[in-house]
Amino acid sequence: MATLKEVLGIATQSKTAIPGFNIDNIEIPEAIITAAEEYHCPVILTIGQGAIQAGQMHHLADVVRRLADESTVPVVMHLDHGASYEQTIQCLRAGFTSVMFDGSHLPFEENVRITQEVVKAAHAVGVSVEAELGAIYGVEDGISHSRDNLVDVDEVARFIQQVDVDALAIGIGNAHGMYQGLPRLDFDRLQQCQALNPPPLVLHGGSGIPDDMIRRSIALGIRKINVATEIRNAFMCGLESAVGQRNIYAMYRAAAQCVHDVAAAKIRLFQGVEAPIQIA
Ligand code: G3H
Ligand code: ZN
Repeated sequence: MATLKEVLGIATQSKTAIPGFNIDNIEIPEAIITAAEEYHCPVILTIGQGAIQAGQMHHLADVVRRLADESTVPVVMHLDHGASYEQTIQCLRAGFTSVMFDGSHLPFEENVRITQEVVKAAHAVGVSVEAELGAIYGVEDGISHSRDNLVDVDEVARFIQQVDVDALAIGIGNAHGMYQGLPRLDFDRLQQCQALNPPPLVLHGGSGIPDDMIRRSIALGIRKINVATEIRNAFMCGLESAVGQRNIYAMYRAAAQCVHDVAAAKIRLFQGVEAPIQIA
């Protein structure tokens, strides 16, 4: 498996973004990796708080490990919105190659302190760390934030002086879940953050952001984009489309195809490519 630092280094070189897709079962990561291999694109398979609260962490970690071992592209196993230092340690023990500690709702100094501890433990075993400043609002997997906490650029400057993270998620008006109307992303704020020469920046709440806003975010420095809702919706729509066949594997195949198509479209957009690269 690859680390977040390795694949975001590739994205930085190519001025593209790597997708971080949330996974909740076996079929979703299988379909995502198929799409990633069509485009020779590294992929970040993300296990979030919903899956963890459902007791799926170890099961999904085993699935990701097997898929990564067999894949032709670099695959990162990533903890999303890590809720505590202890949870990140549990993920290190489970073989994750990247962990996020989400301290965005904490006082700044507390976020710094705990993230420093996570970095010390994770880097000691070669695992990457993502942090967050400025809350990503909306509700997902039980994580909810208010809208009024856009990232403070001065805090970014202070944070990256004190904490050696491999990626930094920032709140610029992005939100979890589908947007009510057009997203209002603060591109000036993103540009000011990027001007500080930070670690690769991450955009959460990737579902429902129009393509032109995605392209502009990548041009301004975003190197990882998280997508969950569109993937989950695709899976459920696929199941519903085949429910009349009364055959569970026909339903899974339909759901996997829908997930594949969404993942492939996101990869094309994030990588700036048009058609599948023909595998020789
Ligand atoms: O942490 C997960 C991502 O930020 C997903 O956001 O469901 O809006 O795509 P999304
Ligand atoms: Zn998120």
